[in-house]
Amino acid sequence: MSDQQLSGDVYYPSKEVIKHANAKCDDLYQFASENYEGFWEKEAKNLHWFKKWNKVLDDSNKPFYKWFVGGKTNIAYNCLDVHVETPRRNKLALIWEGENGEFRSFSYFSLRRETCKFANVLKSLGVVKGDRVTLYMGRIPELMIGMLACARIGAIHSVVYGGFSVESLHERLEDSQSKVLIVADGSYQRGKVVQLKKIADEALQRAATVESVLVVKRTGEPVNMEAGRDMWYHELMSLPIANNSCNIEVMDAEDPLFMLYTSGTTGKPKAILHTHGGYMVGVYTTLKYVFDIHEEDRYWCAADPGWITGHSYIVYGPLLNGATSFMYEGAPTHPYPNRWWQMIEKYGINILYTAPTAIRGLMRYGEAWPNRHDLSSLRILGSVGEPINPEAWKWYHRVIGKEKCPIMDTWWQTETGMFMITPMPCLPLKPGSGTKPFPGLKMDIVDENGESVKPNEEGYLVIKNPWPAMVRTIYNDPDRYVNQYWSRFPGVYMTGDSARRDVDGYYWVIGRVDDVIKVSGYRLGTAEIESALVSHPAVAEAAAIGLPHDIKGNAIYTYVILKSGFTKSDSLVEELIMHVGHEVGPIAKPESVEIVDSLPKTRSGKIMRRVLKAKALGLDPGNISTLEE
Ligand code: WTA
Repeated sequence: MSDQQLSGDVYYPSKEVIKHANAKCDDLYQFASENYEGFWEKEAKNLHWFKKWNKVLDDSNKPFYKWFVGGKTNIAYNCLDVHVETPRRNKLALIWEGENGEFRSFSYFSLRRETCKFANVLKSLGVVKGDRVTLYMGRIPELMIGMLACARIGAIHSVVYGGFSVESLHERLEDSQSKVLIVADGSYQRGKVVQLKKIADEALQRAATVESVLVVKRTGEPVNMEAGRDMWYHELMSLPIANNSCNIEVMDAEDPLFMLYTSGTTGKPKAILHTHGGYMVGVYTTLKYVFDIHEEDRYWCAADPGWITGHSYIVYGPLLNGATSFMYEGAPTHPYPNRWWQMIEKYGINILYTAPTAIRGLMRYGEAWPNRHDLSSLRILGSVGEPINPEAWKWYHRVIGKEKCPIMDTWWQTETGMFMITPMPCLPLKPGSGTKPFPGLKMDIVDENGESVKPNEEGYLVIKNPWPAMVRTIYNDPDRYVNQYWSRFPGVYMTGDSARRDVDGYYWVIGRVDDVIKVSGYRLGTAEIESALVSHPAVAEAAAIGLPHDIKGNAIYTYVILKSGFTKSDSLVEELIMHVGHEVGPIAKPESVEIVDSLPKTRSGKIMRRVLKAKALGLDPGNISTLEE
């Protein structure tokens, strides 16, 4: 495949990269296209099952597909116990550095021990299989331990990103009906402390289901502890109930593992549900081939565990592969813009997986910062979250990868659970393209009628066959699941992205075609930002749009109509921006709030964000025949 002549700006993999690669491209693509279920079955056999499946794929009730039907397993068992039985027992599973320079590490043995202890703590609080547990923390080992402890006893974890705030947390606690909240007292970000427990206290006043709150001490700043509800993690972990051994809950392949809220087209964030069996096989396989995980590697995914990238490729994927993962708590530029490069040198990181926004942000500071460090341990680089512009790709490739590390530009979603359009080290690369669908996947780009478009034409990106790590449903809302993803073109999964495919069959993802805004790779819905604005006493109506931004990819711009009795002022605008930060989270803070007298709406009252966007960009708003007078 690497000998093939391709059009455009192409980077062919070196002989060493191809030789080293777990993925033998020709074989994998061919095997998976000829025997799709056989391909996944072969991979599933590399993992431990208490009972083997009877059927690889059950498609009798579309789009509610089932994988590895009848199989019994537990993902946490595969992440930890399986390795503890081998010489990997003493291998580092996790290396962690705090923003303040603190250091901790866990072998597979000790990570399993901590997980078992915490699983016993959860059990003692009455958590049983199927219960929901919310986790709200920064990037610290206890987040990983908490997720794995839930998985071990069959509880469903719901991680809320530590950058979210009061209303986002409240909504997720309430929708999931969580029994337990695990929260850190605070987290370090850019040298400052974010008071997570304080935010949680406010959210808890709005949410009623939580019975117990477990508080992890990270910063040691004083927090309010409510008697009868709040307990310290470290105190519970030192009690006899926090025993070192904890039986594993045998899970059905289709039993839920976690839910993760994500923004969609309309309304409230929805809880995407993933399972123990298929998800496990999907993330294990994709990480192994795409990031070419080998025994001796030190792998660093710099995402946050609060998003799907962290679930699949900080926690589950690396542990399933028996890899050594590195986790860093803080900001890339703290205290100086060489922080990341310094840690790559210090820990000898071989694989770095991050987002275009981080690369663009670090590029700004110039080459001197990375050039002060020995980055020669790096072998493979990765990108995720938004399209990577060729300029950033080339900088990453040249300055960080020294022109020897292939870049895996992975396209996927919370819903897909695993990489979908992705290079593998054996494939030639084109800067800005995620190359091709992972072996066996049938993806396409279609027009309004669902017909495939011609090469280089833009259209809707869709997926035409099921895959093991696919979302199973929206928690408690199967109808919304069907409507949202499977109804535009029946039987076909709608990604919500637009893309084009070039003459070589390489995919170029353009961006969202719905009301989702990707800000620094974070996924936010216009609806969340608008409802936060409207929850302010001065605001009658609000509209949010995303506009291109050099570093963030997109930035949020908002328009509001004030209630009568309120007048426009700079201080009110500032207050509204802070209000969105307080309700949704700092990442959702609008770049600007423009106070207007009216908003463009359809006759049925829907805000036409497209018109606002065109106007802001100085473009023709297109068809406005549905615009109200
Ligand atoms: C976007 C993140 C271009 C896309 C894993 C998708 C990308 C959304 C890429 C999902 C990429 C993700 N190139 N766009 N390599 N990766 N996206 O659910 O718009 O947070 O639909 O999952 O991110 O965002 P989510």
